[in-house]
Amino acid sequence: MRTGDAFGVAVRLRGCAKTFQGHRVLEPIDLDIAPGETLVLLGPSGCGKTTTLRIMAGLESPDAGGQVWFGDQDVTRLPIERRHVGMVFQSYALFPNLSVRENVEYGLRIRRVDPAERRRRVDAMLEMTEITALQHRRVDQLSGGQRQRVALARAVAPQPRVLLLDEPLTALDARLRENLRVEIDTLLRHLGVTAVYVTHDQSEAMALGDRIAVMNHGRMAQIGTPRSIYFEPADDFVAHFIGTLNVVRDLFGQGRTVAFRPEDVTLLSEASPSMDAAYRMHADAPRGQVTASFFVGDHAKVLVELSSAAVVAAAPSSGGPLPKAAAPQVITARVSPRQSPNVGDTVRVLVSPDALRNLAHSPAS
Ligand SMILES: Nc1ncnc2c1ncn2[C@@H]1O[C@H](COP(=O)(O)OP(=O)(O)O)[C@@H](O)[C@H]1O
Ligand SMILES: [Mg+2]
Repeated sequence: MRTGDAFGVAVRLRGCAKTFQGHRVLEPIDLDIAPGETLVLLGPSGCGKTTTLRIMAGLESPDAGGQVWFGDQDVTRLPIERRHVGMVFQSYALFPNLSVRENVEYGLRIRRVDPAERRRRVDAMLEMTEITALQHRRVDQLSGGQRQRVALARAVAPQPRVLLLDEPLTALDARLRENLRVEIDTLLRHLGVTAVYVTHDQSEAMALGDRIAVMNHGRMAQIGTPRSIYFEPADDFVAHFIGTLNVVRDLFGQGRTVAFRPEDVTLLSEASPSMDAAYRMHADAPRGQVTASFFVGDHAKVLVELSSAAVVAAAPSSGGPLPKAAAPQVITARVSPRQSPNVGDTVRVLVSPDALRNLAHSPAS
């Protein structure tokens, strides 16, 4: 039953905008998703993620002129029941009076898949989502995590052309979320289904996305691999939304804003004898004072208030002194827990020049 073109189709949006009651919530969006790819729509609440997903599903139609394509089929005017998509929502939307097995089987019954094939596929799905042992339970007897497994199995069993997931893990507690995230990733890869996954959680986006589309105020701020989004954020909105970013203004006195990640900072503490040599070697480096330090286990997060001289790139001898920054600025450093300075320490701050980047301002900021 599994046919290559039915499972894992390309999805294309062309000029898809959306206006509710005269209010434009989605600017015209173009999006290309490759067959079998997992694309994550990431952005703050209200930026238009769900609306975009609903346009793909056929639950909303785009404003006039917008088009939705599945492979070479224009599905813009096709209702949801004819698009052959699978959906998983934050709230489980399972049939409470049916058993786990009956829920998973539901889409196959509707499609009149013959009983033997149905049994085979349901068994496979139960196995894959590790709910075989629960198959005869009613869904109202399940935990939240178990229900999301059922929802996943039910969405995937009919082999949809596209799987659409809207914050499926948001209602679960942190540990469960992390475990299920890994399993969803494995499942999507195994199935090869084209998937669009909506979340406001950046670490979920990083873990699951082949690519991430970062949305801001109804626009696509940036689309790229997790690495490119993290290391080459297109603008300051993206940079701040993904991870922590230090932004130091006027670093080189040219009205330029440079940015760097906490893990690219090295702190040399005056108070640490083991760092004494390095500390003296970088006498030119800017100084700061540690205002807070958080031990997180595998690393320490340290806040440093810079003294008047701003951060200097840890270039091998950068020459003369650099212009001073206007006001004290606080940066975050992520350091090895064994090398974390104490609150009150004076530190020298080094940033690898490769790690410094210029930032464009996002249109909305
Ligand atoms: N049916 C609707 N009617 C009016 N406004 C809506 C409707 N659906 C969504 N919106 C508005 O559109 C914007 C985007 O919503 P949504 O796509 O749900 O954002 P997200 O999923 O990113 O949180 C929000 O301002 C929301 O209030
Ligand atoms: Mg939403």
